[in-house]
Amino acid sequence: MTTQTQSREVWSGQYGFILAAVGSAIGLGNIWRFPGVAYTNGGGAFLVPYLIALLTAGIPILLLDYALGHRYRGSAPAVFRRLNKNFEIVGWFMVLVSLVIMSYYAVILAWALRYMFFSVDMAWGADTMSFFAGEFLQVSEPGFNSDIVPGVFWPLIAVWGGAAIVIALGIQKGLERASKFFIPLLVVIFGVLVIRALFLDGASAGLNAFFTPQWSALADPQVWIAAYSQIFFSLSVAFGIMLTYSSYLKKKTDITSTGLVTGFANSSFEILAGIGVFATLGYMATQRGVGVNEIEGITGPILSFVTFPEVISLMPGGPLFGIVFFASLTIAGFTSLISLIQVVSAAIQEKFGINRRFGALLATGIAGSASVLLFSTSNGLNALDVVDKFINEIGIVSAAILMTLLVAFALRKLPRLRQHLNYYSSVKIGRWWDVLVGIVSPAVLAFILVLTIQSLVSDGYGGYPESFIYQYGWFMVIGVIFGAAILTFIPWRTNVDEYDADEYHQIDGPGLAEQAKARKAGNLPTAERSES
Ligand code: ALA
Repeated sequence: MTTQTQSREVWSGQYGFILAAVGSAIGLGNIWRFPGVAYTNGGGAFLVPYLIALLTAGIPILLLDYALGHRYRGSAPAVFRRLNKNFEIVGWFMVLVSLVIMSYYAVILAWALRYMFFSVDMAWGADTMSFFAGEFLQVSEPGFNSDIVPGVFWPLIAVWGGAAIVIALGIQKGLERASKFFIPLLVVIFGVLVIRALFLDGASAGLNAFFTPQWSALADPQVWIAAYSQIFFSLSVAFGIMLTYSSYLKKKTDITSTGLVTGFANSSFEILAGIGVFATLGYMATQRGVGVNEIEGITGPILSFVTFPEVISLMPGGPLFGIVFFASLTIAGFTSLISLIQVVSAAIQEKFGINRRFGALLATGIAGSASVLLFSTSNGLNALDVVDKFINEIGIVSAAILMTLLVAFALRKLPRLRQHLNYYSSVKIGRWWDVLVGIVSPAVLAFILVLTIQSLVSDGYGGYPESFIYQYGWFMVIGVIFGAAILTFIPWRTNVDEYDADEYHQIDGPGLAEQAKARKAGNLPTAERSES
């Protein structure tokens, strides 16, 4: 048996961690989901539920993830086991949710990579829909098949290969270095893209459509569901990512300010993406002489791979715009993909006592195979659509409810975790956090979950045959639960139970921010501890 807690890798510092966390948060959710979701759910008025969701659930649960990871220093299953042996299964549930997400997420990156090259000569031609669904993805009737599409398979192998190398290189040399390179690059190239879009003819019509508030939408519960779901997926909270990332933080780290920076940076990028996308759609509407509201395909794969190629073909300098757009999508998605893989890699390393490289190989091998078998075939687009719906709206939401209720009521740990956050941070949080995390968030999320299940049971989803919804939706969710139970029963090959959070952190007396202030004023508190 080995113990991995003492020799745990760490981020080089707060800056490296913030870039990695922001890199995880900013992803496909920001670029292809937010603009369309906001537009169809009240336009400018959507910003109200969106900001409420960010402040009442997104950031508070992000801080919970950070507190758990930092305090219990482990992968999701290790953290939940250290909280209470009976709750390890919740950690595995999160790991498997991440595994499912990454297996289709990588496929979308493969498409984006391919489209970056298609942009050079606008290979999609005049009918971008037929090209995407027909020539490129060779979409078949919904139903499992093994017809792997070579045009997706090879870029997919490249994506998994690149991700495996980053994970195998470890926290500082792999994930941190990749984030330090890619995130500033993304901000610059995406910024240039948005500025270009703002100068397109008709951009203001797009922005008006995007920002004009429809206040009546706020009375619709679906709008609130959309806001909370968007925040969870986009901030990468409650499915193990931020918890795993924060377990590599050094002991003395200002956790709450880091959480605030992550939350607001992610939302700022999201709004920037909304501006860029709608300025571009405004141009398209103007060219076609129609209203922005008449444009179809403004969210998800259709926005990126059908509507955008069409605009790119229309505009002067289109190929360059296309290359930058698909490069942005690939980069944003890649830094999220590696964070998802790290959740799985860290968990299997710790559970089975294997080294980092082997962990990286296993995690990418398992998820990569699922990716190829399920989503690189001609059934990929349909499968991905259903899996994405179920894993987000049932998987992530259930994980968040379980996590908040267990910590708040079964373990009654919120005051202790708040003390932990405050000890290490300059921005103090009050009891309101306990209320938001322990009561408001689980109540809102439980309401959302019930409505979602009701609607899926009664109306199905997307017009797919019932058997298809069972295979890729319900059975997948049941599989994740069973898988989590099986993994929980396998014995640990490392001394996971030897770690003692109280002994390691020894939080007492004034917090680190107060100690620093007192030190500056030449008035060191007498009870100050020396810390590593
Ligand atoms: N947070 C990541 C995204 O928005 C998963 O795509």
